[in-house]
Amino acid sequence: MHFSEFIAFIDSAQSNAHPEPTEPISEPSAIIGSFAPRVDGPLKTTGTAMYAGDYNFPHMAYAVPVCATIANGKIRSIDTSAAEKLPGVLLILHHGNIGPLYRSGPDGRASEDRPALSDNIISYYGQYVALAVAETFAQASAAAAAIRVQYAAEKPSVSPILDDPMPAIGAPGGPGIESERGNSDAAFASSPVQIDATYTTPVETHNPMEMHATTAVWRGPRVTLYESTQGVVNHHNVMAAILGVPHENLEIISRFIGSGFGGKLFPWPHSTLCAVAARQLARPVKLVVSRKMMFSDVGHRPCTQQRMRLGATSQGKLLSLQQDYRNHTSELEDIRENCGEATPFLYSTANLRVSSGLVRRNVGTPTPMRGPGAVPGLFAVESAMDELAIKLNMDPVQLRLGLDTLTDEESNKPFSSRHLKECLQLGSEKFGWSKRTPQVGSMRTSGPDGDLILGYGVACASWGAGRGGAQCSVNLLPDGTVRVSSATQDIGTGTYTVIALAVSDMTGIPLNKIDVVLGDSSLPPGPMSGGSTATASVLPAIVDGVDNAIKTLLGIATHTPNSPFSGQHPDALAFTNGRIHAKSQSPSTGTPFGEILRAANLAGARGEGKSGGNPNAEKYSMHSFGAQFAEVQWDPGIAHLRVSRVVTVIDGGRIINRAAATNQVAGAIVMGVGMALFEETIYDPRSGAPINSNYADYIVPTSADAPLIDVHFLDIPDPLMSSYGARGIGEIGLAGVAPAITAAVYHATGVRVRELPVRIEHLLAASTDRRNL
Ligand code: MOS
Repeated sequence: MHFSEFIAFIDSAQSNAHPEPTEPISEPSAIIGSFAPRVDGPLKTTGTAMYAGDYNFPHMAYAVPVCATIANGKIRSIDTSAAEKLPGVLLILHHGNIGPLYRSGPDGRASEDRPALSDNIISYYGQYVALAVAETFAQASAAAAAIRVQYAAEKPSVSPILDDPMPAIGAPGGPGIESERGNSDAAFASSPVQIDATYTTPVETHNPMEMHATTAVWRGPRVTLYESTQGVVNHHNVMAAILGVPHENLEIISRFIGSGFGGKLFPWPHSTLCAVAARQLARPVKLVVSRKMMFSDVGHRPCTQQRMRLGATSQGKLLSLQQDYRNHTSELEDIRENCGEATPFLYSTANLRVSSGLVRRNVGTPTPMRGPGAVPGLFAVESAMDELAIKLNMDPVQLRLGLDTLTDEESNKPFSSRHLKECLQLGSEKFGWSKRTPQVGSMRTSGPDGDLILGYGVACASWGAGRGGAQCSVNLLPDGTVRVSSATQDIGTGTYTVIALAVSDMTGIPLNKIDVVLGDSSLPPGPMSGGSTATASVLPAIVDGVDNAIKTLLGIATHTPNSPFSGQHPDALAFTNGRIHAKSQSPSTGTPFGEILRAANLAGARGEGKSGGNPNAEKYSMHSFGAQFAEVQWDPGIAHLRVSRVVTVIDGGRIINRAAATNQVAGAIVMGVGMALFEETIYDPRSGAPINSNYADYIVPTSADAPLIDVHFLDIPDPLMSSYGARGIGEIGLAGVAPAITAAVYHATGVRVRELPVRIEHLLAASTDRRNL
């Protein structure tokens, strides 16, 4: 989905929130920006944190889906007779008996805009065709295996996107223009220096540790779904619509999530199947999506093909920039991978065109994956920039510094805060870029690693800085603790901790007395954990909620007869470090707030918090930026390549929790190594099956593949974002990593890899050619 559409979607889910005026940036504090351990860490490390598949209930049954073994065609018949006779079998659902289900409608977004098991048409391998429910997981698995499905199969289309020639722009099936200025064709044609190259990125599959799961419990007309979701509020809206259940009868619980990477943003059909099975049986039902099903039924990053044309002067001024791209999508949905997310504003150029098109394949529906659009898009843009630098005989850092701009030339708005230049400069310094000698294969290691060739590469990163609406409730309690709640969720990124830090910062209440409650759709509506917007969205609501709770508290203090502040005006009082005191006196003279609440015999002093989308987003172009520097070690004798070092500098506004932020970006660097060297979902052209659908064959980096990682944040608050000045750092760390690595691969080997991932086959030529280097 387009980033702006994504943000608009997040915002529309919170239509009752209103923008508030920009506040002055809050003062630096000892808490904000500190290296804070996760407040939920002990729960996770002791195994007591409850994930969706961990919930067990008396009389719970287990559901196992049956997956299509063709990728294109129709179900002719489903024979459940053998399965029904197996021990423990309770229910078998298929399109003939599932009963009425509805589309998700305008209130929310599901990943597939049609109900589960809605007809007999198969459009991708692994598509659910039935569901077996039994007393135990083993019995349900046996029943699923015993269901006989006859198909009328047609040849599936799963071929790589390059197999279809790209039609002309504007032609039927050809790319449509997304962004255009000047006359990029003419400017390219007359440019003294030209780059014209096509880059491809493969299908990548989200592989969070925790697989998708639903546990459904009906109590009469009311249902609770324990889910692994990046958006409890949206999941609630979608499931209420699909199941035809009044909103107040449905609750989504997602207390802990073993990550999602975007795959858990929008509900998938297994959630519906589990809820329907539990409704029909009037028993709790659990459904855990298998690792194999993760490769076909819950989304992926689509493959892309991107033709880049760059025209420049011999001094490195960009005269024209063109990105014409396509991505594949499913038969069911038009999902555009927004590869031009950053292209129109990253570098200064008068002439530009970004165009996009879709190619339909028999695959499951694609969905956002960490840095959707920008990550594959920047692989093409930044690779082409590296090729341009080489053609110009210019340093690639210098080329980029010369093209920096503080105005978004797409929208003609100023950037709220753009420090790409500083990212490149600090990164160069930390990486030791000045030691680079530009000639291919000219650098060597010395020392314990032996005699290896070194390659250095650089690329820039960018990701949108969005902020949607959010609400929360803050309750100061008589035991001296504070409870803060919001229907957002922590997908593992540290949202519990970020909220606790902000509340502690504002109230002086220590972290161990702050109870953050998230992951429940019945709480005040909060943001999705998506688009790197959760922190930026929720913090302004928390600020408002804490302010209102303190107002309530001071009112109580002045209106309670046996309070030391009885009869005073609330304006004369202050709340510091958990104590109420006269503004004219030191906080240490004050009374702990719990005492006042106990004197008043009140269960709490509550404040509701609310914030809207960013009121400054109209006038400013708001993005985060970064620079990635990669070093590879290349042994031509045995064609062995290793990413040895990555330095990253991120301009993501103010950093709230340095530990969590560093962890986010370091994790993204490792994911970037995977994108550059390993990750690729491969489809069998005969069956249409994703054939490397397991952790053994779908290669993700291990600790042994991880480079030395050095993460830096500029930590410059963006006052146009919120009073905390925090943007988001969940996704930007991945942007630019792969092109920095392939630039380094070129520098080491002389091989320009334009098709990810880099394979040994790509490098063998260099290995042979350069054996005697
Ligand atoms: Mo992110 S792809 O918005 O989870």
